[in-house]
Amino acid sequence: MRPVPGQISFDEALGIDDPTGLLQVAPPQTRLKHAMYRKYLAAWLRVMKGQPGGHDLYILDLFAGPGAYLAEGVKAAGSPVIAAELAMKLRLTSPSTRVHIRCVERSRVERERLDAELERFRPDIDCTVQKGTAERHAAAFAAESAGHPTLVLLDPDGIGVPMSLISTFGQRDYTEVLVSFDAHAHYRVAGTQGPTAVTAFWGDESWTQYQRQDGTLDLAAMLEGYRLRIQERAGFRYAAIWRIRFPKGHIDRAVAQAAGSTLAPEIMFDVLTKEAQKFDARIQEVAAELDRRGRINGALRVIRAFAGEVGVSWSRLYARAAGVCPASLDLEQALLYMREIGHVTWCGRLGRYAAPPAKFTFVADLPEDRWDGLERSQDAAAALVGRDVRGGELVPRSPV
Ligand SMILES: C[S@@+](CC[C@H](N)C(=O)[O-])C[C@H]1O[C@@H](n2cnc3c(N)ncnc32)[C@H](O)[C@@H]1O
Repeated sequence: MRPVPGQISFDEALGIDDPTGLLQVAPPQTRLKHAMYRKYLAAWLRVMKGQPGGHDLYILDLFAGPGAYLAEGVKAAGSPVIAAELAMKLRLTSPSTRVHIRCVERSRVERERLDAELERFRPDIDCTVQKGTAERHAAAFAAESAGHPTLVLLDPDGIGVPMSLISTFGQRDYTEVLVSFDAHAHYRVAGTQGPTAVTAFWGDESWTQYQRQDGTLDLAAMLEGYRLRIQERAGFRYAAIWRIRFPKGHIDRAVAQAAGSTLAPEIMFDVLTKEAQKFDARIQEVAAELDRRGRINGALRVIRAFAGEVGVSWSRLYARAAGVCPASLDLEQALLYMREIGHVTWCGRLGRYAAPPAKFTFVADLPEDRWDGLERSQDAAAALVGRDVRGGELVPRSPV
């Protein structure tokens, strides 16, 4: 029915901001994803505009979607529109920084909607929408954005992101990939549709090692394996992964992050945990328990790989531990505990910015261990250098 001029529509009367009735309704997991993306991208823009090549920043949204949703009856921005809104904001505070938004959307209907949604930004922001697939356009976008900070958003339905797509953006400075996927789809896909999709997601058939004898999947171990693959195979210095679970409805999403800096997973972890609370969702670090103790125990477990090594850098330690222990403060706790029980020594301070950087020496035999739950402060520990632990008591170190 044609709207009568001046007459308010049924949708408007109900407070629904979609008179066309065409917008997809965003479920809580989509709304959390958008909230997380908005916060994270704002931080990314702030950090990256000051980096080499940062006068031009690239956002590659390769599974772009329609650009608008209906969230609790109100029209809400999809990922490319969120990027455009933040790019507009950045123009006010940093007019010399140019943000380039490159979108790919396979579906014609979604693409046309997105094109229309982005129209209002076009006078100010360089944003394009390509038809076809992410796979087809990735190499050209990688070439265009080379030398500039680049954030690649891969947000398929299910797990439709081939590992080769992520690798296209590996081995580059200031380049980061966020993969948002349906962790639960592993069960569906592996169980019912045959293994091809999981094999493409994974890059080869090695994922089958996580299949138990009865055919079920050890999903937590598998996701941690996926994180290491992104880091090692796709060519990123750091990768982290989080599982996002909604108690209602068995929703089991995951976000994998591949980056060149330890700052990126730290910011993401902070953003995710804060935003998840608003949506009654649980953020579960893969292969670790939920709580701080679980993360520290996870770090203690993976650090055992350095048994007997001398001169290990903070960055190598962090790269190994990031999937189970992304917050450096937790990793510091694990190391302070290990030092107290005589498993590791180092000089100087802990942390990303420590100067001179600490080098760690691990004893050859690192038995399986669990954190004792006692918080240690780095400063207190530094003050205690020169003392020994004997019978559980700290005593002045005897002269050698
Ligand atoms: C989950 S939606 C994207 C949502 C969007 N990123 C957001 O947060 O607002 C996934 C979109 O990817 C599109 N798509 C699926 N496979 C694709 C491919 N291989 N290349 C490009 N787009 C694809 C689908 O049509 C769908 O619109």
